Amino acid sequence: MLERIDSLRDEASAAIAAARDPAALEELRVRYLGRKSELTAVLRGISELEPDQRGPVGAAANEARRALEAELSARAEELEGAELERWLAAGAIDVTLPGAPPAPAAAQNLLIRTQREIEDVFVGLGYRVMEGPEVELDYYNFTALNHPPGHPARMAQDTFYVDPSTLAPDVTVDGGLPPGPEDVVLRTHTSPMQVRAMENQEPPIMIVVPGRCYRSDPFDATHSPVFHQVEGLAVGERITLADLKGTLDAIARAIFGPQRETRFRPGFFPFTEPSVEVDVSCFRCGGSGRLEDGSRDPLCKGVGWIEILGAGVVDPNVFGFVRENGYDPERVQGFAFGMGIERIAMLKHAIPDLRKFFENDVRVLEQFR
Ligand code: PHE
Repeated sequence: MLERIDSLRDEASAAIAAARDPAALEELRVRYLGRKSELTAVLRGISELEPDQRGPVGAAANEARRALEAELSARAEELEGAELERWLAAGAIDVTLPGAPPAPAAAQNLLIRTQREIEDVFVGLGYRVMEGPEVELDYYNFTALNHPPGHPARMAQDTFYVDPSTLAPDVTVDGGLPPGPEDVVLRTHTSPMQVRAMENQEPPIMIVVPGRCYRSDPFDATHSPVFHQVEGLAVGERITLADLKGTLDAIARAIFGPQRETRFRPGFFPFTEPSVEVDVSCFRCGGSGRLEDGSRDPLCKGVGWIEILGAGVVDPNVFGFVRENGYDPERVQGFAFGMGIERIAMLKHAIPDLRKFFENDVRVLEQFR
């Protein structure tokens, strides 16, 4: 009987040590110490034993019971501790991981980025960046830029005129008169800032003027009634067309690559004389007009050159409007240029449709972070 108690105790001890969870432990408690367990039966049957066996068997069975109870509660504690460890490990936070979900970062629109790139190049050349009004007087947009009355650019199909009754009462023209129906426009180019800047600063002057412009144009792949330009103006005592060429070479190379060249073709603008259209050598084919496989380069249409801007030598008639501020056409000369930011960005990033800039489709915007 004593041996049976010993082996029961060993069997139960081993099972308790091997138990994996509290439910298994409870099962073992019932099996080895419960009302129907063998050990309980032994204790209950003590009175039926020979008198000399009752003492030792009772002591051994009670001792086994106490020992197993102690082992059960020790093992239960162990299992609970392990459970807690597992729970903590599963819920652990790795503070070295990036925040989740990653917050979408804002980004500059490609047009603004291109504008800033252009500004940076000119700031590096010594230019100042200025801005001007988008709602502009006809005087600055046309008259002082040598557009004679009846010039086609003044016509309503090209220009948005601003209803004078919508303007603040202190807006006046011609020395105090209230503005008439053709006196205020949405600027059709950034060139009006040429005259405004020269009114405010004596020569020499070197400025670039980025900003929004408006024309009564369709909204299609290459036009928009709202678009962006960067104006440039440099006036001083010995500024020539050669300086313009060097300046435009610098910007063309900064934007389209160090191998680029520029060429001038004759052009016309009322406020520059002579006027030029400026092309940059094609950055797709390198100027040959042919792709590597010998086919015609579709970007420059096989010509090897791409038009990027208009420019020219400032017309003396324009200086005539700011003569009092030191712009004597006999003494100072200068050049001006104007480039479309949409066009530059479309060329540089192979964007096929100008409307993409304004539709705010996140899938498009995200490609140019
Ligand atoms: N303002 C002209 C345009 O919008 C561009 C230009 C600017 C031309 C300066 C010559 C000098 O087309």
